[in-house]
Amino acid sequence: MTSQITSVLQETRLFPPPEALVRQATISGIAQYAAMCAEAEQDYRGFWARLAREHVLWHKPFTRDLDDSQAPFYKWFEDGELNVSYNCLDRHLGTPVENKTAILFEADDGTVTQVTYRELYHRVCRFANGLKALGYRKGERAIIYMPMSVEGIVAMQACARLGIIHSVVFGGFSAKSLQERIQDAGATLVIAADAQVRGGKHIPLKPAVDEAFALGGCESVRKVVVYRRTDGPVPMVAGRDVAWDEVVQGQADDCEPEWVGAEHPLFILYTSGSTGKPKGVQHSSGGYLLQAVLSMKWTFDLKPDDVFWCTADIGWVTGHTYITYGPLACGATEVVFEGVPTFPNAGRFWEMIERHKVTIFYTAPTAIRSLIKAADLSPNHHPRNYDLSTLRIIGSVGEPINPEAWMWYHTQVGGGRCPVVDTWWQTETGGHMITPLPGVHTLKPGSCTMPLPGIAAAIVDETGTDVEKGKGGFLVVKKPWPSMIRTIWGDPDRFRKSYFPDDFQGRFYLAGDGASLDLDGYFWIMGRIDDVLNVSGHRLGTMEIESALVSNPQVAEAAVVGRQDDLTGEAVVAFVVLKQARPAGADAARIADELRAWVAKEIGPIAKPKDIRFGDNLPKTRSGKIMRRLLRAVAKGEEITQDVSTLENPAILEQLKQPL
Ligand code: WTA
Repeated sequence: MTSQITSVLQETRLFPPPEALVRQATISGIAQYAAMCAEAEQDYRGFWARLAREHVLWHKPFTRDLDDSQAPFYKWFEDGELNVSYNCLDRHLGTPVENKTAILFEADDGTVTQVTYRELYHRVCRFANGLKALGYRKGERAIIYMPMSVEGIVAMQACARLGIIHSVVFGGFSAKSLQERIQDAGATLVIAADAQVRGGKHIPLKPAVDEAFALGGCESVRKVVVYRRTDGPVPMVAGRDVAWDEVVQGQADDCEPEWVGAEHPLFILYTSGSTGKPKGVQHSSGGYLLQAVLSMKWTFDLKPDDVFWCTADIGWVTGHTYITYGPLACGATEVVFEGVPTFPNAGRFWEMIERHKVTIFYTAPTAIRSLIKAADLSPNHHPRNYDLSTLRIIGSVGEPINPEAWMWYHTQVGGGRCPVVDTWWQTETGGHMITPLPGVHTLKPGSCTMPLPGIAAAIVDETGTDVEKGKGGFLVVKKPWPSMIRTIWGDPDRFRKSYFPDDFQGRFYLAGDGASLDLDGYFWIMGRIDDVLNVSGHRLGTMEIESALVSNPQVAEAAVVGRQDDLTGEAVVAFVVLKQARPAGADAARIADELRAWVAKEIGPIAKPKDIRFGDNLPKTRSGKIMRRLLRAVAKGEEITQDVSTLENPAILEQLKQPL
């Protein structure tokens, strides 16, 4: 840890906020930021209550702010009632926003569709009425397995409108993952597309739904609503499957929203943890919406004329907060993109920024790194060939952004004039936590700078004591905040153990990241300290991948670690012991391919190991514990300088050093 800290602290380049931006920013200048932090410090509950009254429309106003009587199961604004879809759509009717473009949808092939707020409202209402007609009611769970599309957003909003708890499953997840989520959530409804279209290819989705049912345990589901994205054949199961068009046909254009309590779960989103199966992170309605709105206004300094583009997928939390809910609740015009950054060429993002006159652009370091490489290879698609002058703020999310990628993003994409907001947050936090504010912070490439007002982020040692500036430690949040995870669906015990561990007497939220503070009080995130990998911004539990490998009949034992990767941040490296003798040559390559395909089927292609090594055994201590530290060194190709005297079988390391 220490060597990483010193290396980042050598960063001396400073980028103060542009004067023009400071003058008009929602939070303008360090003094205003400090005043807001002080307000939160003095009257924490009052601070959040004030913001919740100002930024959320309540059907029934709340009288209680924070209820911490059941900590760490915190409740915010509990006796208030609202509807999140109402806050995103109805609130704009009868205002100038009504006829404004809500969504600029660009399909993979470049076709652009514009949807105004009024049209979106009607589409959501018709679909919600259709779901009602099918018998769906508040509190039921819906799995959404949809590509990037207006319909994907409509499906989420319609659920929110009816108080149906949605759980979006990323289209890259396998049938097995889908089945596990259907079961865990006890879903009664599945909303899926026939296929998705990305990079010129049609990738089927509906077959995974049918396979999930074939795997069993999905009996809770009454209907599967199928949206047709392509013209291909789609086998429909009689009595269970119903076409999207049929669901909306003849339905009324208006649908009274279901008023729900502030704590009513808006959604469950599954994410990887260090042990066991993915956890269903449960979010609230009121507190979640509040921070979605605030961070749009604070971090992105959203103004009425902005064109906002978040390139995430609705299958991830970034897509929830910064595509489906935040921008719409603020009445923004947003770009929604179906395709991939490199199709038909590596200039696609830049061309789209130019075409749609995007002013705020939000993407992931992995995309930036791959586009840097692509721009080098194909200078015609370098961002300098496009008019990116409309951009005013550019953002990054999902993993640490290395200073060189940051510099390229800042100069080549942002023209040296756009602040880079490097936003640190998590599925569990619901919205931004630590991030520069464009009109406040002087930027340092690679640092997510400082917490938002009201966010009590800190770095502590094992005993929960704040570490000195310059030293590394555990990133924690010392006070509850409105958009925080409420529980793990169906597993409150795991929630408490994972996030409010006894190590800190259950007082602090443990993020699972290592971080350090520099002498100026800037936060530097070093990445996960638990057994969670971050591959291209996707969270993967090493345990999950190990379980998938071990479920293959050929595999006796497996250990998975991460290795730094220039493109994907981290790459998956798997050490495998087969039931048969250790394979070599073509045999080893064939089995490695089979295992990769197996992991893709069990979890999804994003979890496929990049590197697989076979051994007769794994390096273990005499008590039988796998020595992951050593495996990490082996994966990196490092000399083993660590003490191996406790190792039962040191010779194994030599075998595992051999790449295929
Ligand atoms: C990492 C994505 C450094 C971190 C919103 C965190 C980051 C995990 C940043 C959450 C950032 C996210 N700088 N690291 N700006 N943003 N991370 O749940 O390790 O998919 O714990 O949420 O991504 O990933 P998740």
